[in-house]
Amino acid sequence: MIPHPTSDDKGERLRVHDLAVEQVRDRLADDVRRGLCSAARKFLPPKYFYDELGSQLFEAICLLPEYYLTRAESEIFARCSDEIAGAAAQGSAVTLFELGSGSASKTRRVIEALLRRQRRLLYVPVDISTPALEESAHALLQDYPALAVTAYAGDYDAALPRLGENLDDAVRALVLFLGSNIGNFDRGEARDFLRRVRRVLRAGDRLLVGADLKKDPAVLEAAYDDALGVTAAFNLNLLARINRELQADFHVRAFRHVALYDEREGRVEMHLESTRTQTVRIHALDLDVHFGAGERIHTENSYKYDLAELSALAAATGFESARTWLDTSERFSSNLFVAGGD
Ligand code: AVJ
Repeated sequence: MIPHPTSDDKGERLRVHDLAVEQVRDRLADDVRRGLCSAARKFLPPKYFYDELGSQLFEAICLLPEYYLTRAESEIFARCSDEIAGAAAQGSAVTLFELGSGSASKTRRVIEALLRRQRRLLYVPVDISTPALEESAHALLQDYPALAVTAYAGDYDAALPRLGENLDDAVRALVLFLGSNIGNFDRGEARDFLRRVRRVLRAGDRLLVGADLKKDPAVLEAAYDDALGVTAAFNLNLLARINRELQADFHVRAFRHVALYDEREGRVEMHLESTRTQTVRIHALDLDVHFGAGERIHTENSYKYDLAELSALAAATGFESARTWLDTSERFSSNLFVAGGD
């Protein structure tokens, strides 16, 4: 990260906690072994998409015409951020948390709306990509002198237990979980995760969940299989990462990107499909992995919701669904959940 040549107080307003990002490579090794070797059906966890290139490819996905999610959520924030901030704060001062903050570009609207209501704001982002986190923190501190940032570089498991450090009785927490990040969890995992979020919060704290809505399968499949092939590159980059970090010899061109919507499950699945029989050597694991022609590695699920499922999700996890905002085409939802009594 290139330090910004400024002489203001940005250093004092920034704290970065590195939560065992060094261990990510060991976890990658374990998860690759588990997903490619012992599993009857091959799978890899989507959190490994986000190396430096993967994070940038995701930023590019957000600009694609087919990937409407980011634009829809941005439209909601552009139109409703004052309303959202007002409903979240309800007269209290707010500390803003974000799970999976990435570039935090949509967050700016919420930050600005909160800074219209209070003089100072503490922003506590969590992201698995240290470069993305540092870059966005510096940019935000540059643009908002009234902002302080305490950032956690790590996955949700490492960061959640630490969030309470930033809460005190004088402030209400607003936790952002945007962009349909919740879609990577299956329905049971989503409930478990929101219950864990609820446990680090107090009654009356808020959670804003961005959830993509069920819709025409053709629209969903195009969003995950764009004409330019950016999503394909994002998916295939996982193999390039394993080649680099675990000294493997995946022939990336011998795999193809597959995205399909399973209407029964209400989820888009992404896979990497082997175009021929092949054996891949993963040196760091001392492992040979065999692929048949057409065999797939399941790399991601993106679950889609309807409004009834979202309020049921809130009720099942110790929250009450207080309000939902939709974009004008009603493709995406922002859901304000209020933590119920302890
Ligand atoms: C960042 C998990 C919300 O599932 O829509 C985008 C990731 N994958 N295109 C999503 C993703 C393929 C994205 N999330």
